[in-house]
Amino acid sequence: MTGTTEPMRVLGIETSCDETAAAVVGGDRRIHGERILSQLDEHRPYGGIVPEIAARSHLDHLDRLIAETMAAAEIDFADLDGVAATAGPGLIGGVMVGLMTGKAIAVVHDLPFVAVNHLEGHALSARLTDDVPFPYLLLLVSGGHCQFVIVDGVGRYRRLGTTIDDAAGEAFDKVAKMAGLGYPGGPAVEAAAAGGDPARFDLPRPMAGRAGCDLSFSGLKTAVHHVLAGLPPGPLSDRDRADLSASFQAAVADSLAGRARNAIAEFRRLAPAGDSLVVAGGVAANRHLRARFQVLADDHGLRLVVPPPALCTDNAAMIAWAGIERLGAGLRDGFDAAPRPRWPLGVSPV
Ligand code: KG4
Ligand code: ZN
Repeated sequence: MTGTTEPMRVLGIETSCDETAAAVVGGDRRIHGERILSQLDEHRPYGGIVPEIAARSHLDHLDRLIAETMAAAEIDFADLDGVAATAGPGLIGGVMVGLMTGKAIAVVHDLPFVAVNHLEGHALSARLTDDVPFPYLLLLVSGGHCQFVIVDGVGRYRRLGTTIDDAAGEAFDKVAKMAGLGYPGGPAVEAAAAGGDPARFDLPRPMAGRAGCDLSFSGLKTAVHHVLAGLPPGPLSDRDRADLSASFQAAVADSLAGRARNAIAEFRRLAPAGDSLVVAGGVAANRHLRARFQVLADDHGLRLVVPPPALCTDNAAMIAWAGIERLGAGLRDGFDAAPRPRWPLGVSPV
């Protein structure tokens, strides 16, 4: 252990999806070393993530990435203050690889171990980059999750609403596939939307005007399917692809912003001391969404915090940071912590 005056340093490991990642982060928010390897090229031929390929690839690369991360951070394992690894939710084979590796390092070097909920990693990522006091309102938008949550503290969450069907990132990925934009969908749609006309196709804003904070994206996806079916047969023109991408991106952002208005009202009622709105998760990397939420936050006198894009999509720095937050709160896990394919944020009823 380092002296008590030194900020703690924690190794984070992330293997729950298609990024193999390691990072050493300090309690002073410094990222001392970081390596991330995307498996995109391995999954691209299949148009989506193949769990078996993902797990095997994590196994092939994780040890080397950790060694490189430690070298970049210029730190020995024995000088760490803890090891944090994603324990779920995610693809179970990959989760097991990272979790077992993290436990092994912690056992060998006699370090505290933290089994991190990947969603808590996203939820707390804004506190790695900015001074965001609890409580805050969080919109978590990723490939598998889409929810409004009041973050009261480390491990303390109240969920206001969630998607009743697809997550927003999933909708981006499916629309990209339909439009022949390939995988991964979010960045491809964002790139294709540049210069497109967001008003050309009249797409629905799901759940608009309805009470509550739940979300829905499957109807929007179906509407895109109908638009595509109505276009002339044959390959899409670049113009059609750009206009469709821009129209879809605007519909997602409008829908999220509309539902966020209800979530903000609930947040004010349930957590009146809070003054920050945080957007996190892979879809928060989208520049149009970020701009849309800046306007929304300004309208409501809230401070908007969105981590930089590289900390929105999956990464290990947010897992290390969640480890720091949990260790700081006196929380640590045993070596019997199980990998969990499903693991909702520990939510209490509102
Ligand atoms: O958080 P994340 O990296 O992984 C999960 O935990 O799911 O989120 C991945 C999702 C994918 O659906 C991807 O298409 C979407 O985030 N995404 C984006 C952008 N970058 C990633 N969606 C819209 N615009 C982007 N720039
Ligand atoms: Zn994620």
